[in-house]
Parts: sequence; C-alpha cells; structure tokens
Amino acid sequence: MLQNNLLLRAAKGEHVERAPVWVMRQAGRILPEYRAIREKLSGFKELVTTPELVCEVTLQPVDILGVDAAIIFSDILVIPEAMGLDYEMIEKKGPWFPKTIQTAADIDLLQTDGVTERLDYVKKGITITKAELNGRVPLIGFAGAPWTIFSYMIEGSGSKTFSKAKKMLYTQPELSHRLLSKITAATIQYLHMQIEAGADIVQIFDSWAGILDQDLYAQFGIPYLQRISQAIKQVPTIVFAKGAYFSMEDLATLDCDVLGLDWATSIEDFKAVVKNDKTLQGNLDPCVLYADESVIKKKTAEMMKRFEGQRHIVNLGHGVYPDTDWRKVKYFVDLIKENNF
Ligand code: CP3
Repeated sequence: MLQNNLLLRAAKGEHVERAPVWVMRQAGRILPEYRAIREKLSGFKELVTTPELVCEVTLQPVDILGVDAAIIFSDILVIPEAMGLDYEMIEKKGPWFPKTIQTAADIDLLQTDGVTERLDYVKKGITITKAELNGRVPLIGFAGAPWTIFSYMIEGSGSKTFSKAKKMLYTQPELSHRLLSKITAATIQYLHMQIEAGADIVQIFDSWAGILDQDLYAQFGIPYLQRISQAIKQVPTIVFAKGAYFSMEDLATLDCDVLGLDWATSIEDFKAVVKNDKTLQGNLDPCVLYADESVIKKKTAEMMKRFEGQRHIVNLGHGVYPDTDWRKVKYFVDLIKENNF
C-alpha cells in the first residue's frame, strides 16, 4: 500500500487534496549526491546497469527534494541497445551509436525477442527500489516513444534537425513503419516487464515530437503511441510529446490518462481540447528555476492559476537542466506541497 498515492489519483482523475509534484530528470546531475556516485564509476552505463546504484540514485530526489514520485533511474536508449544497437554515452556530449539503421537488412537484424531478458538489470533495479521505497511514493517506469527511439537509431546521436530521420519518413515510409512497429513491440514488452516488477505508472517520452508536423506525427507518431497506450491497461500512462502542440487534437484521442505539456504549449488550448477527460502534466519552463525565489513563486502561481479546474500533475515543461541549483528545485516542490503560491 502506498502512503502517498497523490500521483496515481491525479492521473486517474480522482479527488486529490493538492496537485502532486515531481520533476522530469529529477535524478541526476543537479544533485551533488548523484555526482559523487557518478565520479566513482567508469561511466553512465555502469550506473544504469547496476541495480543497487540505480536504487540509490532513484531515491535521492525523494529524500532530498521531497517529490511525490520516484522515477526509475535508467535511459530511453536501453531499448535500442537491447534490440542490438549498442550506444556509448560520451561525457559532456551525449549518446552516440557506432552503428545506425539505414537499410531493410539493418532493421531485420534488430531483435524483439529476448528484450526483457537483456533488460533484466532494469527489472532488478525496480524490484530493489520498490522494496527500499517501502510505499512512500509511487514509482514511475518509462520508455522513449517509438518516434524518438527511431530518430536516435537513424541519426546515431542527437541532432538539431533530425533531418536524416525525417528523410527516412519521406523517402521510405514503409521501411519507417516497419522499424517503428518493431520498436513499439519491444517497448510494450519492456513496459509490461517494468509494471510486473512494480512500476505504478509509466511515462512515454517523445522528446523529438516537435520536429515533425501534424501530418507526419499523425502518420508516424500517434498510431504507435496509441498501440502502447492500448497495451498498457494495468497502470495509468503519461504521454509527453515535447513540442507537439500542433497535434493537440490527435494527442487528445490517445487512450492514455495523462498528457505532458512543454512550457511553450498553451495551457488554455490544451484544456479546451482534452476537457477534463485527461490529466495534464507540466509545465513550468525549467529556466525559471535559474531565477530568484520571488520570480519562481510568481511564475509558479501564474501557472497554477492557468491550470485551475483541470486535473493536474505539477512538473516542469521538460527535464531540469543539470546546472540548476537543487535548492531552487526544492523551493519549487515546497511551494506546491505547502500550497504557497
Ligand atoms: O530523473 C530522471 O528522469 C532520470 C532518468 C532519466 C535519464 N534519462 C537519465 C540520464 C530519464 C527519464 C532519461 C530520459 C531520456 N534520455 C530522454 C527523454 C527525456 C528528455 O530529456 O527529453 C532522452 C532524450 C534521453 C537520451 C539522453 N540520455 C541524452 C540526450 C543524454 C545526454 C544529455 C544529458 O542529459 O546529459 C542522456 C544522458 C543521461 N540520461 C544522463 C542522465 C542522468 C546524464 C548522464 C551522466 O550522468 O553523465
């Protein structure tokens, strides 16, 4: 039994005393305690694949920031890796894939069988974390959305334009669908595994949704998000499609419980489209947390006012930036918990 189940109730649209709050990328470099652990390791991947350490860094923001949920420490890129595309995490640069997907033969080589077995370290991490959390707050599981994972598989790294990935959509739509379907199948198995291991709710990160347009997203994004939403019936689901304000109406048709909003999205427009049939999550600009406390308070109050009357989970509009002072993050979390805005 959970002592604090605000997040789950808010996700399902049940009564809550106050809106729950957590922060995307809450576990990570903003916390000195995280950096201390990271420094002792060979790299990011050692941390991700060591269940005891995963548990430790997952709990840090719960203990230090007092958030209403933990999110299992991992990365969206474990799925391409489990399908057969190894990645490296280059310090200060980000992910890099030595081999990328270019042809039908490359896609055929990707494995969907055995994905959950190869991600057994995530299962162990969740199991240990659930035991350690001891019901204090819910545990969020997660995966990347098929389109975002597809982008990394084609490009082999981050990109400003993701033009190689978009080129594939325009020049080889059938091949694109084949790859997206394979990623989706692996992702569904992976999320089911996380739920069996103890994840109380899951979030799908579509970080690169915003580089498409409504037409492309309707063809290559939404249908796969829908497949995932419909396959997850055991726990509530959150879909965060960053930058996809152009697909508001389409996102509203998904069988998910929560839609994440980035900071540039109009809260009023989204409210009008989803009505109160879904919970909205977000959406303070992470850069507000660089400002003085008085500004953080003012911006938080404005945001909360705009969400009034709507099922709401408080969060930032994207992940917290690593150079943010963790005390400002705690200040923001406390404002919400103390209804002080
Ligand atoms: O609290 C949490 O949310 C931590 C768990 C988490 C990480 N990555 C850890 C991480 C989550 C949910 C992610 C998701 C993720 N990973 C996304 C989607 C969310 C988003 O921000 O849009 C994406 C696009 C990735 C891919 C990725 N992983 C990139 C581009 C990078 C490099 C840039 C960066 O943030 O450093 C990573 C590395 C990464 N993933 C780090 C962490 C804590 C930093 C690695 C380190 O400790 O050196």
